[in-house]
Amino acid sequence: MNNNSIFVCNNCGNEFSKWMGKCEACGEWNSLREVSKKDMEAVKELSQDHEWREGKLQKLSEANFENQRFVCGIEEWDRVMGGGIVKGSLTLFGGEPGIGKSTLMLQVADGLTREKKKVLYVSGEESLPQVADRAKRLVVKIDGIDFLDSMYLEKIENIVRQNKYDYIIIDSVQTLVSNSLSGGVGSIMQIKYCVAKLMQLAKGSGVTILLVGHVTKQGEVAGPKVLEHLVDVVLYFEGDRLGDLRILRALKNRYGAIDETGVFVMTQDGLKSVADISKMFLKERVVGVPGSVVSVAMEGTRPYLVEIQAIADSTSFGNPKRTSVGVDMSRLSMLLAVLGKRAEVNVYDKDVYVNVVGGFKLKDRSTDLGVLAAIASVIMNRAIDNDVIVFGEVGLLGEVRRVKSGEHRVREAKNMGFKRIFCPRGVGRDAEVVTTVAELFKKLF
Ligand code: TYD
Ligand code: MG
Repeated sequence: MNNNSIFVCNNCGNEFSKWMGKCEACGEWNSLREVSKKDMEAVKELSQDHEWREGKLQKLSEANFENQRFVCGIEEWDRVMGGGIVKGSLTLFGGEPGIGKSTLMLQVADGLTREKKKVLYVSGEESLPQVADRAKRLVVKIDGIDFLDSMYLEKIENIVRQNKYDYIIIDSVQTLVSNSLSGGVGSIMQIKYCVAKLMQLAKGSGVTILLVGHVTKQGEVAGPKVLEHLVDVVLYFEGDRLGDLRILRALKNRYGAIDETGVFVMTQDGLKSVADISKMFLKERVVGVPGSVVSVAMEGTRPYLVEIQAIADSTSFGNPKRTSVGVDMSRLSMLLAVLGKRAEVNVYDKDVYVNVVGGFKLKDRSTDLGVLAAIASVIMNRAIDNDVIVFGEVGLLGEVRRVKSGEHRVREAKNMGFKRIFCPRGVGRDAEVVTTVAELFKKLF
């Protein structure tokens, strides 16, 4: 360490005067990197350079509400974007390596060229033959897309200024470098500097830019977290990498709601939008076997049906084992305690395994009742009828509590052909109200 450098956390961006094994600000291990003070200054100067924001004094009432938006025709993408990508915006699109970011970007690029937009694909990750080969497999119209394999910021800026592109995809932000900094590719100052410069380019010239960002567990490359506040829109692409389901979420959107999500499946010919999530989840359902029930979860503003499965087995020695895929472990422990105490279904000497079919993670508590019904069904060895659906949050007293969008969920269940809907009160006449877990079990078993 010398006087010309400081240390910056690759995960959260906080600065420290000395190296530490663990970042004091965010708790990440081994994420501090040495950064030259000159590079720091360059980045700071850039963020103080507000030329493009100075603007003039206007009446709020004179504002032009309508942002010009680019619609690419991939409905799930356009919806999550809030109705299309806003002209002149800077978007960060993050996700783990291999999840399908580049694939989706090519498809979006394709959609935009079909809408007569001029698109540039900048790649520091893959070569032209690689990208072209993938495009061919995806049946993407490549003649409308330009390709650039330089990741030098200055080069990109020049080309963009000369060619008047509508839309630029940069894959990925971690491979961008600027000549004006000394730090290496992927260093935090390089990334921050490049993103700030691109923001100026977007606001100054009206070009629309999307940055692909890898999310990595370790702090080897600076994470997109550091960049979230620097951009207009933050999207994440996630899913079970072994399964084929992919979810697109908006974490931040200056031009739209953030509770929208898009659902895709990865296929041989790229990503396909899934309009009907419920159908997909339930298509392989086996009926008449104890340990399975259907519940209703929400993905953004859309309800979808999920099958929750459980098996239980006598614990052979030691503590009973509890394993879950798709249900939060501490939530599961709590629900098991409720099962024993409030519904007299004993689990204390049983290993319990719970699985949410399709690789979905149940995020809210509205499926608590479903989890309990699946476990009780297998322990009591009584199958739940295939036209039954249950949902509701469960409290420590064994009470069934209301959840948001109840009516919406009931409608989805009815549309999918379910006849008996057990849920908390307040959702209309189509459902059967249950107030406690014990009451539900009396009705079911
Ligand atoms: P990719 O878009 O390269 O992921 P990322 O850019 O997020 O790293 O996609 C990687 C995976 O997707 C790869 O393992 C192969 C698979 N894939 C398909 O299954 N079908 C396809 O049509 C394409 C293009 C990729
Ligand atoms: Mg990629």
